[in-house]
Amino acid sequence: MTGINYSDKIPNNVNLSEDRTLQRALEQWQPNFLSWWGDMGPDGSQDFDVYLRTATGVDPQGWAQFGYVKMPDYRWGIFLNPAEAGRKIHYGDHKGEDAWQDIPGEYRANLRRIIVTQGDTEPASVEQQRHLGLTAPSQYDLRNLFQVNVEEGRHLWAMVYLLHRYFGRDGREEAEALLERRSGQEDNPRILQAFNEPTPDWLSFFMFTYFTDRDGKFQLCALAESSFDPLARTTKFMLTEEAHHMFVGESGVSRIIARTCQVMNELKTEDVTRLRSAGVIDLPTLQRYLNFHFSVTIDLFGADESSNAATFYSSGLKGRYEEGKRSDDHVLKGATYKVINVEGGELVDKEVPMLNALNEVLRDDFIKDSVAGVERWNRVIEKAGIAFRLKVPHKAFHRKIGALSGVHVSPEGRVITAAQWHDEQDTWLPSGADRSYVASLMGRVIAPGKFANWIAPPVMGINRQAVDYEYVRFN
Ligand SMILES: [Fe+2]
Ligand SMILES: [Fe+2]
Repeated sequence: MTGINYSDKIPNNVNLSEDRTLQRALEQWQPNFLSWWGDMGPDGSQDFDVYLRTATGVDPQGWAQFGYVKMPDYRWGIFLNPAEAGRKIHYGDHKGEDAWQDIPGEYRANLRRIIVTQGDTEPASVEQQRHLGLTAPSQYDLRNLFQVNVEEGRHLWAMVYLLHRYFGRDGREEAEALLERRSGQEDNPRILQAFNEPTPDWLSFFMFTYFTDRDGKFQLCALAESSFDPLARTTKFMLTEEAHHMFVGESGVSRIIARTCQVMNELKTEDVTRLRSAGVIDLPTLQRYLNFHFSVTIDLFGADESSNAATFYSSGLKGRYEEGKRSDDHVLKGATYKVINVEGGELVDKEVPMLNALNEVLRDDFIKDSVAGVERWNRVIEKAGIAFRLKVPHKAFHRKIGALSGVHVSPEGRVITAAQWHDEQDTWLPSGADRSYVASLMGRVIAPGKFANWIAPPVMGINRQAVDYEYVRFN
C-alpha cells in the first residue's frame, strides 16, 4: 500500500484502477488542472528543467526522488499514508467508536466545507507566487519556489481526490470550482483573505512560507485527527511536504537577516538610509513585514468564539493540534478557555466554554510555534553583536476577524484611536515606501552559486548537492 503506482495516468497509492468510474472522473479533471497550471502556475518558467523531488512512497524513509523535471510534467498524484488497523476516534461525542471509512450522512455538508476550504488555499498560493520566478535571488531559491509550487498543486490533488471519491456530483462541482476561483480576483476570489493578498516580492514570499504555510501545518495537524479516516491519512502525508515549505521561509528570512547584519557590521551603522543605499533590507523593515504576515495569518484560524469550531470537534471532524498528546478528557464539555474581548476600550480576558474557543486554542498553538522560529532569527542578530530584536506583535494587533476586528491595537497590545492608528501604521506595517524599496531590490540572479546582494547564501544545498549546483536549467 505504501508503493506508488506511476504507470497509471494519475500516480496513486489508492488502487485507482480498481474504481473505473472514479478514475475516469479524475482523468477528466486532470486536463483542466493542467490548463489551470498553464494559466496560473509559475510565469514564464514552464520550459525550465528544475531539480525537483517527487514522492516515490509514503514511508518516512526516502519518500522522495530528485531529478530534473519540467514543471508541467511533474507527476501530481494521490498519496495517502497507510491505514492504521483498527483506528478509533479518540475525542468528541464519538470517542471510542471506529474511525469512519465513509462519510456519515449528517456530517457530509460540514466535511465538504472543511475539505473545500483547505483545498482552496493550495492553488491560491500558487497564484499568489506565480510572478516570483522572474525575480529569484538565486537558482537555489528559484528551485525551492518551484518545489513549493508543485507541492501545493499536489495538495490540491489530495483534496480533489476526496471530493471526487466521497461526495459524488457535489464533490465534482466543487473540484471544478477550485480551478475557477482566482487569488485576489474581485468577482471570484479565493475563500480566505490571506490567500487573496499579493505576494509581490521575495521577502513577502519567505514571510508567507514561514507564517502562512505554518497555518497550513496546524490546520493539517487538526485534520490529521479527523474521524474520517481518508482525510486523516491524506493530510498526514501532506504534512511531510509542508515541512519543506516552512524551512524555505525560515531559512530565507534568516539568510536576509544574516546579510543585513553583515553589512551593518561592515559599515558600522544602523542607519536605514545608509543600509538601503548599500542594497540590504534594514531590520525595522523586516519587523514590519513580520507584523503584517503574522497578523494576517492568525486571522486564518477564524473567530475567537465559534459554534462551528465546537461542532467540528464534538462531531469528530477536526481535532486539536496533537490531540493524542493531551491529557484531558478529549470531550471538553464544561472546560473553559481564555479569549480576548474588548470592554470599555480595554482588552480584557474572558473565560468562555473551551469547545467554542477551539479556533483560539489552535491559534495559540500556532503562535507558540511561530515564536520559536523568531527566536532563532534573533540568535542570528545576537551572534552578529547587534542589539536589535524581532518580536511577534500582540495577538490583538491588526486583526480583521472576530471580537478584535472592531478595535485598533498597537503591536504592544495598547488599544488606540483610529487617528493614532492612522498616524502610526506606517511604522508598524510595511509602508508604500518600504514595499517599493524591497521591490527595487528584486531581479533574477541566474548564474549557479550567485546570490542577490540582499540575501546570504544557504549553508548547504538541496539533497546534499553543492550550493552552486545547477538547480534550474533555463533552456
Ligand atoms: Fe499546501
Ligand atoms: Fe505549503
